[in-house]
Amino acid sequence: MPIPEQYLDELTARCDIVEQVSRYVPLTKKSGSNLFGLCPFHNEKTPSFSVSPSKQIYHCFGCGKGGGVINFIMEIENLSFQDAVTVLAERVGMPPPPTDEKEAESSSRRKKLHELNREAGLFFHEQLLGPNGGPARDYVNRRGISGTMVKNFGLGFAPDSWSALTDAMLKKGYTRQDLFDAGLMKHGRNGGGYDAFRNRLMFPVIDVRGSVIGFSGRILGDGEPKYLNSPETAVFSKSRNLFGLNLAKKTKSGYIILVEGNIDVVSLHQAGFDGAVASLGTSLTPEQARLISNYTKEVVLCYDSDEAGRKASQRAIGILEKLDMKIRVLQVPGAKDPDEFIQKNGADAFRNLIDRSANQVEYRLRLLEENNPPDTDEGKVDYVKAAAALLAALPSPVEREVYAARAAERAGTSRQAVIAEVERLRKLRISREKKKEGQDNTRPTQTAQPPVKSIRYADPRSARAEEGLIRLLSLDPGLAKGRDLPAPEDFSSPELGKIYDELLFRIRNGEALSPGVLAARLTPDEMSLFVAIQGGTVDMANADRAMADYIKIIAARKDQQMDLRELAEQKRKKVSEGKP
Ligand code: UTP
Ligand code: MN
Repeated sequence: MPIPEQYLDELTARCDIVEQVSRYVPLTKKSGSNLFGLCPFHNEKTPSFSVSPSKQIYHCFGCGKGGGVINFIMEIENLSFQDAVTVLAERVGMPPPPTDEKEAESSSRRKKLHELNREAGLFFHEQLLGPNGGPARDYVNRRGISGTMVKNFGLGFAPDSWSALTDAMLKKGYTRQDLFDAGLMKHGRNGGGYDAFRNRLMFPVIDVRGSVIGFSGRILGDGEPKYLNSPETAVFSKSRNLFGLNLAKKTKSGYIILVEGNIDVVSLHQAGFDGAVASLGTSLTPEQARLISNYTKEVVLCYDSDEAGRKASQRAIGILEKLDMKIRVLQVPGAKDPDEFIQKNGADAFRNLIDRSANQVEYRLRLLEENNPPDTDEGKVDYVKAAAALLAALPSPVEREVYAARAAERAGTSRQAVIAEVERLRKLRISREKKKEGQDNTRPTQTAQPPVKSIRYADPRSARAEEGLIRLLSLDPGLAKGRDLPAPEDFSSPELGKIYDELLFRIRNGEALSPGVLAARLTPDEMSLFVAIQGGTVDMANADRAMADYIKIIAARKDQQMDLRELAEQKRKKVSEGKP
């Protein structure tokens, strides 16, 4: 029995590829967001082995090897897939991959808990709408939450009772043990138990697969604790889920809005901002960030406007930057959180804030200013120096110029002076980087054949188009929409067809591409090929045209093949009929 995909997802989410690779290969930052080192799989003097923290993959431009963290361990420790998984699990303190019997048992247990959580969610929802729901409905109305949001989020009410949920669930055939395991019942002192959530507005936490995994319960009004959350269970982990992501993952806005409160999430969705999620009362964790990065490359941070919110923002920026995400920071003026802002000022005002929201450069400049107030001569010098160091790291000259002007304005110095300082630091950086790089120039060369020796293309022209299609779709699954895509069998290369098949399956199911799961389905050579393809250059601006061209080339080859087959068929017939 194969290792369940969920296990592989979790394992790869917990194993940072940079950390694992660094155990064997010293890595240095060279260009963009990738790290480089000397390839451990072939002999070389200049580094052509790259690791992408954002994609969680490695790739060597020299020997063509590549893959996710599991592939790396397989290759470097010379292990089977199963053994590599076991080694990694041990390193990050996860239980070993379930064996057949245990796996069947634990997966049926998880299924049971998912079902129970769903039933409990339904029960709470019915309570909210039913005769006992008066006080909770009043509260919902007072918070301005619409009936549509109650329905979309499946909000509910845990009645003010020690056993209402337990009684209802026992009647449905669940056991008290099930309820304890799901965190819905708590142990009492006399060996009994009671409902964990009482007299609370219930927010079901639903994962990206659509399973109810736990709950957040808010007190109706003021009181302590304001929220109660499900404990960590076999299906619920606070640090690995986000409230609202089940809905927000479908947003067409192009970004996710990260807020602190569940109520903020509901309020934003209600105002039309359907990309809002909250991190379940923890500050953003790397796992949550990686989860978000499966769905978007841009995050609007909109934490509460207090000191805690500001600290949380800075921490989140650090985490998101590592994943190469675009980050904007939005501060709500005159309100404690986005919900209050929208209640006061309406959706349009919030839209305005998003449009004007500071990117992280502006935000950082503002923080710099707070730490080095440029109101004395000394302060001015410190501020300009710090700002110049920040700006010198920006790759775009336009950005450098724009922000330099802004910094100059703040410091009350000339624009030229700041720009000169930025450029001076920049030259220093560049010469330092050049020195580090040495003579190294190992970019991939475009050849007709793939960098993986065991795979040869029979039809390089079609294969090039097939690679292009795979590359574009893996970068932007949205490109699949509304298009007549070729079937995997239409591909000239069976290996590319197999990769494409996996990709297409996940896109059609709205699932993310996880290197761990792919490592289980593709051979190491296919994985290497896939990674090499993803590393190729793309011009996303012309993606639509390119898609159309690729599809045409693949279709043309297929038609040609059919023609050839038909010709051969006719010839055979003629021969058998004795005609020339
Ligand atoms: P907030 O106190 O900001 O909650 O906490 P909120 O959802 O915005 O509610 P209102 O608008 O004040 O009524 C932010 C998040 O922190 C977690 C919850 O997930 C909450 O949504 N939290 C808060 C807890 O887990 N426990 C608590 O006691 C308080
Ligand atoms: Mn709040």
